[in-house]
Amino acid sequence: MTDKATLTIGDKSYDLPILKGSTGPDVVDVRKFYGDSDHFTFDPGFTSTASCESKITYIDGDAGILLHRGYPIDQLAEKSSFLEVCHLLLNGELPTAEEATKFEHNITYHTMLHAQFDSFFQGFRRDAHPMAIMTGAVGALSAFYADSLNVDDPKQREISAHRLIAKMPTIAARAFQYSVGRPFVTPRNELSYSENFLRMCFSVPAEDWVPNPVLTRAMDRIFILHADHEQNASTSTVRLAGSSGAHPFACIAAGIACLWGPSHGGANQEALEMLEEIGTVENIPAYVQGVKDKKYKLMGFGHRVYKNFDPRAKVMQKTCYEVLEQLGINDPLLQVAMELEKVALSDPYFIERKLYPNIDFYSGITLRAMGFPTNMFTVLFALARTVGWISQWKEMFEDPARKIGRPRQLYTGATQRDYTPLEKRG
Ligand code: ACO
Repeated sequence: MTDKATLTIGDKSYDLPILKGSTGPDVVDVRKFYGDSDHFTFDPGFTSTASCESKITYIDGDAGILLHRGYPIDQLAEKSSFLEVCHLLLNGELPTAEEATKFEHNITYHTMLHAQFDSFFQGFRRDAHPMAIMTGAVGALSAFYADSLNVDDPKQREISAHRLIAKMPTIAARAFQYSVGRPFVTPRNELSYSENFLRMCFSVPAEDWVPNPVLTRAMDRIFILHADHEQNASTSTVRLAGSSGAHPFACIAAGIACLWGPSHGGANQEALEMLEEIGTVENIPAYVQGVKDKKYKLMGFGHRVYKNFDPRAKVMQKTCYEVLEQLGINDPLLQVAMELEKVALSDPYFIERKLYPNIDFYSGITLRAMGFPTNMFTVLFALARTVGWISQWKEMFEDPARKIGRPRQLYTGATQRDYTPLEKRG
């Protein structure tokens, strides 16, 4: 067993230490490589590069394993609650009964927004995408909670983390209610996190809102399944933003912006829009042919890390069926989804490329059945992922080896040349 790798360039060899994690691939430590060799390593897309050390989430993409602090995602989704998972991600352990009560109290009593904050929403056009509202509103939180912006104070870091986890549902629900022209609903402290969120989204002053335990559980499960996912694009964005010492409200706003992209969090909206575009089962073969001709991608399929199956997709599929059964919905889009899944899983094009349905494939159908419009899907993802982002931000911040993130590049542009006056150009 060797604890170093040797890289030879020309007639010079460089020893690179190999670092071992508790599980998963070892890493070749190239931190001193540039200083020693005057070479960078090249890895756009970070397919082979570990950007940090972390104890929060472990993924084995080939085996379809996702662990949070060591606990398998299916066990957490089945047995835990979102707030318990928040405590786990943020603090490293499942809470004791006493810790759970305290944590729940802390989150519950931070759910309200400053009254003046509501005027922000009025400034947006009624048809604004709720993700546009989220990116703006979350960044703006820092203007209201200036008493927790000192990132060097652990107590303030904790308060900011609690505020973000607590206020995201209130902001997300307001973004939704605003877009449909309904009045904002104030959070209620006697309700659970997910129940409170659903009430803030769907209750109207004209009638009493009645909770539905199946939908509350489904919402909680969706939040658990999206809570964290290692060093994905938005989390890496949060870490990179935070590496400069930026406060968490700014960093999470950056994470939300990154999540919005269709290759990341935007995929659940796109997956459902794709099903709508396909429309009926008969149209599937022609659509799949278009995918093979590389005219477009099958949204909700494929994953950078899971090349076997997405363990979250399995739980999500079950939740999806439960919700549809509870609501008595016979959604024709579900038929299209199931048939598409069958076709894709049996077609060599998809098998060879290891393209399996990911979580977005099923979460889109579930959220639609629950009454959320497609443009809210990514917002719900952002709400749930906030705890992952803030946990990773906290871990990065508390790492004594923290350095400002500063990737290098392979420069292929013009080499140095002299300025040409305008009259001599062209
Ligand atoms: N549909 C059709 N073909 C695909 C798809 C897809 N969804 N995904 C990848 N491929 C093909 C590529 O065209 C490529 O084919 P080639 O070898 O003939 O060129 C091959 O599979 C490998 O694809 P890459 O792009 O190299 O895979 P990568 O790991 O970089 O991409 C990604 C992962 C971005 C998720 C991609 O699969 C994708 O765009 N999927 C659709 C969007 C989606 O559902 N995103 C959600 C991700 S999960 C999440 O954020 C919660």
